[in-house]
Amino acid sequence: SALSSKCISDHHLLLRRGFASEASPDRKVTVLGAAGGIGQPLALLMKLNPLVSRLALYDIAGTPGVAADVSHINTRSEVAGYVGEEQLGQALEGSDVVIIPAGVPRKPGMTRDDLFNINAGIVKSLSAAIAKYCPNALVNMISNPVNSTVPIAAEVFKKAGTYDERKLFGVTTLDVVRAKTFYAGKAKAPVAEVNVPVVGGHAGVTILPLFSQATPKANLPEDEIKALTKRTQDGGTEVVEAKAGKGSATLSMAYAGAIFADACLKGLNGVPDVIECSFVQSTVTDLPFFASKVRLGKNGVEEVLGLGPLSEYEKQGLESLIPELKASIEKGIKFANQS
Ligand code: NAD
Ligand code: LMR
Repeated sequence: SALSSKCISDHHLLLRRGFASEASPDRKVTVLGAAGGIGQPLALLMKLNPLVSRLALYDIAGTPGVAADVSHINTRSEVAGYVGEEQLGQALEGSDVVIIPAGVPRKPGMTRDDLFNINAGIVKSLSAAIAKYCPNALVNMISNPVNSTVPIAAEVFKKAGTYDERKLFGVTTLDVVRAKTFYAGKAKAPVAEVNVPVVGGHAGVTILPLFSQATPKANLPEDEIKALTKRTQDGGTEVVEAKAGKGSATLSMAYAGAIFADACLKGLNGVPDVIECSFVQSTVTDLPFFASKVRLGKNGVEEVLGLGPLSEYEKQGLESLIPELKASIEKGIKFANQS
C-alpha cells in the first residue's frame, strides 16, 4: 500500500542518514572567539552540523561555560572549551577548519576599517598560532576589516612557510545572505530558491552584488537594482545602527558562517560542485585578493570562478571599488610585515 511504501522509504532515509554521519570522516572544527556575539550562536550551529566530529571552542574568557552548555546537545560532535593563550595550541591541533570571529565589533558611526587597530593584532597572533599548530586547516576569516585581515593572515602564513592560497578565506557569505533576502522581497520570488553572487570585498562600496545574474530572473527596474545594491552594501551598518552601540550582526553572521564552514567541510569530504562566494587570493582582477564564486574541494579552493557578464552599472561599481579595496589590502600587508 501507499502507507507501507512510505514507511519503507522513511526508514530507508533514516538508515541512509545514520550511515552518512557514521561514514563521514572525522572532522575537527575550531572556533576562535567562541564566547562572543557571533561565536556563541556559531558554536551552536556547528554543534548541529553532522559533518563535525570534534568542536573546539576557544576564547580569552568564557569558553568553559559555552562549551559545557553546547556539549549537552545530543548531536555527533564532542565539544571542548579552551581558554587563554596557553590552551590555544590544543584548541587548534588537528583542526580541519578554523573559524575566526575574534575581535571587536563596530559601534554606530564607525567604519570596519576603524576596527583595524585592535583586530589586526588579534588576527596576526591567531594566524601565527594556526601556522604553528594546524598549518593545513582551512581558515574562515570573519574578523573585520576582512579586506585587511585576510591579507594579514596570508603574510603571517608566508613568513611561517605554511601559506597555501587555497586554504584562506574571507567570509563574505553574509553579503550573499542579505542580497538573497532583499532580492527575494523585491522580486517576489521564494527566498529559498534565490541565488545572487556578491563579489569584491566586505566593506561598503567594495561589496558588489551582481543582481544582473540573480535567479530567478525578475527584470527589476534600474532604480530598484540601485536601491538593492545600496541596501546590501549598507546591510552591516543597518544592523549596527539598530543595535545602537550593542555591536553588529551576530545571529545572521553565525548563520552565514555556519553555511560557509559547512561548504568547506563538504568540499573536504569530496562532495562535488560546492560553490560559494568568498574573498580569496585571486587573479580575477589586478588585486591580489578578491571575492567571487569559488569551487571548494579536498584542498580548499579548487577553482576561482570568473565574474561572468556584468551590467553597465556593475561595471561602474567594479571600477569604483578597486581603489578602496586595494588600499585595504595594502594596509593589511604592510601591518603584517612591520616587526
Ligand atoms: P564580540 O565582541 O561579541 O565577540 C568577539 C569575541 O572575540 C569576544 O568573545 C572576545 O573575547 C574574543 N576575542 C578577543 N580577542 C581574542 C583573542 N586574541 N583570541 C580569541 N578570542 C578573542 O564581537 P562579535 O559581534 O562576535 O564580532 C566579532 C568580529 O566579527 C568583529 O570584528 C566584527 O566586525 C566581525 N564581523 C564580521 C562579519 C562578516 O561578515 N565577516 C559579520 C559580523 C561581524
Ligand atoms: C556585517 O557586515 O554585518 C559585519 O561586517 C559587521 C559590520 O561591522 O557591519
